Amino acid sequence: MTALIDTLSDDYLREIAGYFASLDLPYAMQQPPSAPPEMLRRGEALVMHGDAARQLPACVQCHGPQLTGVAPWIPGLLGLPADYLNGQLGAWKVGIRRAQAPDCMAQVVQRMPEQDIAAVARWLAAQPIPANYKPAAALTQPLPLPCGVVGGALR
Ligand code: HEC
Repeated sequence: MTALIDTLSDDYLREIAGYFASLDLPYAMQQPPSAPPEMLRRGEALVMHGDAARQLPACVQCHGPQLTGVAPWIPGLLGLPADYLNGQLGAWKVGIRRAQAPDCMAQVVQRMPEQDIAAVARWLAAQPIPANYKPAAALTQPLPLPCGVVGGALR
């Protein structure tokens, strides 16, 4: 993928992204919750409220109140399998996945022990997908941590 993408201009990549973003794809049904209730409760609490003791912001503060993302930089978190979510968050934790500096997701996962990563992945994968799965149009409040990909004023 890296070799394929390296030669393409940013404008062309943006055009490709815009095309895929404009499609209205049918999402698979959410997975049935496959975790103990206390694990799902922990996952929900972290996503909706974060964990003040570890200075972990809530996922909804950046990924949008419906968790459908915020256009154009912050991806939605629904409709993704638990294994994919676990894999991405784990990759950030060990430094395989990186985003533009300052990499806010790297800071987020540093504040999460593995069992918390597993809990959010399981809870998110079990959430129903809104009929109109579109990202919020814009951020409405400053982000709790600066994110390099978010070029706008509301850092
Ligand atoms: C400070 C803002 C911020 C917070 C808080 C935050 N995220 Fe993110 N997240 C981002 C940004 C920005 C990206 C896009 C990074 C990139 O460009 O690769 C992202 C990307 C992701 C991705 C990759 C999605 C994909 O399709 O590959 C996952 C998964 C994710 N976040 C999960 C979470 C979870 C779970 C939480 C809560 C525990 C959380 N995020 C909290 C800003 C945030």
